[in-house]
Amino acid sequence: MRIDIITVLPELLESPLSHSIMKRAQNKGLLEVHLHHLRQWAVNEYGQIDDYQYGGGAGMVMMCEPLANAIEHLQKDRKYDEIIYLTPDGERLDQKIANQLSLKENLLFICGHYKGIDERIREHYVTKEISIGDYVLSGGELAAAVLVDTVGRLIPGVLNDETSALFDSFQDELLAPPVYTRPADFRGWKVPDILLSGDLKKVEEWRYEQALKRTEERRPDLLK
Ligand code: ADE
Repeated sequence: MRIDIITVLPELLESPLSHSIMKRAQNKGLLEVHLHHLRQWAVNEYGQIDDYQYGGGAGMVMMCEPLANAIEHLQKDRKYDEIIYLTPDGERLDQKIANQLSLKENLLFICGHYKGIDERIREHYVTKEISIGDYVLSGGELAAAVLVDTVGRLIPGVLNDETSALFDSFQDELLAPPVYTRPADFRGWKVPDILLSGDLKKVEEWRYEQALKRTEERRPDLLK
């Protein structure tokens, strides 16, 4: 998969994408992420990419021209399966959307700032709008990093243990069960006996029950 990201703050994306599983995905050649600084397409020598909003009011709006030129420049080299604008008024990101996106070849992300981007870019280029939650970030970069990570780890071959994403929370509409590691007794706090029993079938049943219980208690909405 290849992900291109248009941003005014590439620095905010560099670190999250160059460690751990995202680093491994890129080293294995399964994921390519390219950051494009929007100021390359600024409308003047001062690097202008935003302007006051029509109708008045506080806050700048990211202009059409730099964004349209950036998108069209990138479209010359490939056809994007989705052009995604990260925005708090987008569709709320969940594991289902992540699964769907993990099957795509080429994605283009646009990170907004200030009051957002000119509506005409959303109308004419953007094919999908995604929010990572009901709160407002200072810009789309952190949301883009979350989206790359969520989608990137689902690309086949990225996770070492191919099955491990299958047991993630949300993957089957259930939260994940509790997990334990050594020692079996820490200050008298014991690991459930069943996990030490060696009976894999019983362990699996226990995990399923725990996942169900946890989901009923914490996220009953997922069971509907
Ligand atoms: N940009 C600002 N806030 C955001 C959010 N919650 N999700 C996606 N992009 C954003």
